[in-house]
Amino acid sequence: MSKRTVLITGGAGFIGSHLVKRFLKSHAHRIVTLDKLTYAGHLGNLSDVLENENHRFVKGDICDASLLDRLFAEENISDVIHLAAESHVDRSIESPLDFVQTNVLGTVSLLNAAKKHWNGDRNKRFHHVSTDEVFGSLGEEGAFHEHTNYDPRSPYSASKASSDHFVRAYAHTYGMNVVISNCSNNYGPNQFPEKLIPLMINNIVKHHPLPVYGEGLNVRDWLWVEDHAEALDLVFHQGTAGESYNIGGNEEWKNIDLVHALCEQMDQILERPAGSSASLITHVKDRAGHDLRYAIDASKIKKELHWEAKMSFENGLRATALWYLENDQWMESVMDGSYRDYYERQYQNR
Ligand code: NAD
Ligand code: TYD
Repeated sequence: MSKRTVLITGGAGFIGSHLVKRFLKSHAHRIVTLDKLTYAGHLGNLSDVLENENHRFVKGDICDASLLDRLFAEENISDVIHLAAESHVDRSIESPLDFVQTNVLGTVSLLNAAKKHWNGDRNKRFHHVSTDEVFGSLGEEGAFHEHTNYDPRSPYSASKASSDHFVRAYAHTYGMNVVISNCSNNYGPNQFPEKLIPLMINNIVKHHPLPVYGEGLNVRDWLWVEDHAEALDLVFHQGTAGESYNIGGNEEWKNIDLVHALCEQMDQILERPAGSSASLITHVKDRAGHDLRYAIDASKIKKELHWEAKMSFENGLRATALWYLENDQWMESVMDGSYRDYYERQYQNR
C-alpha cells in the first residue's frame, strides 16, 4: 500500500489506542484519530503519540455528518478503520438507544461520508471492527466461523450486527471496498474497569467483593489486545475486499475459573496469603439474557494471513495485572464521577 491517510475512529479507547500506536510505529501512514471521548475514551491512552507529526487527534462524534464531511475533505482520508462504539453489554441492557445511536447511526454516517468522498474508488478501504457476539451463543461444543448465521441476543450485539449488515450493504449496493473483522473478548492494558478482568483487578486491590454473574459457568475466548491489533493490521492491509475474518485467542475460560486464576496471581503479586483474593468472590444475580459461550474458529485468518495469537493467557493475565498495579493513577483518573455513579448503582442492584 502507498502512503495513506487513515481515519481511526474510537482511537482513544482500549483497542483503538493500541492500534493507533501500532500503526504509527509500523507504518508511514498519516493517522487521524476521531474520538468523542465518552467515559470510555481517554487521551492519556494516546499520550505517547499526541505529538507525533504523522498523527492528528480530533475530538468529535461519528454521528456528526458535517464534521465527517469536513474531515474527509481537509485530510483527504483514504481509509477508515472504524472502532468507535458503545462497547459494554451491561450498559446496553440499561440504555439500548445509546447503542443504536453510536453503533448503528454513527456507522451509517461514516459509511455515507466515505461513499461521498471516495466516489467509487476501490483503492480506498473501510474496515469495520466488530465482535463475535453477533453470532449469538454456543452450547458446549463448536466455534463461530465466518459463515455462522447472525443471531445477536443483547442490545449491544444487535447494534453491532446491524452495523455489520450496513457495511456489507454498502459494499454490495455502492461497490465500496470493505473488510469486517469479528473478534472475541480482548484483555490487556488500558481497558476500562467495567469489563470483567480490570474490574476484578481493581476490586481485589481495594478488597471489594468480586461479582461473578450467576454460577460463573459462562465461557469467553480471551485475546491479548496487542495480538488483536496485529490481526487488524493484517486484515486492513492484506484482507480480501468484501470478506470477513474471525479473530480469537483459542483461550476459552469459564468466568469462575478465570477469576480464580486471577486471584491466585494477585495473591502472589500483592504478597497476600493464598486464598485471600478468592475469599472476595461473590455470586450475584445473573446478567439478563447472558450468552453462555463464545468461541472463535480462527483458521481462516491463520491460513490466509498467517496470523495467530502469540501471548499465552497466563502471561497475558500477569502482564495485565502488573500494568494495572503500576498504573493506579490511570485507574483513578478514569473513575470519574459518572462512572462512580454507575458503579454504585450496579452494586445497589445486586
Ligand atoms: P472502548 O469502549 O474501550 O472504546 C470505544 C471508544 O469509542 C472510546 O474511546 C469512546 O470515546 C469512543 N466513542 C464512543 N462513542 C463515540 C462516538 N459517537 N463518536 C466517536 N467516538 C466514540 O471499546 P473497545 O473495547 O476498545 O472496542 C473497540 C471496538 O472493538 C468496538 O467497536 C467494539 O465493538 C469492538 N470489539 C471489542 C472487543 C472487546 O473485547 N473489547 C471485542 C471485539 C470487538
Ligand atoms: P464482559 O467483560 O462484560 O464482556 P462480554 O459481556 O462482552 O463478554 O464480561 C465477560 C464475562 O464476565 C461475561 O460472561 C459476563 C461476566 N461478568 C461477571 O461475571 N461479572 C462482572 O462484573 C462483569 C463485568 C462480567
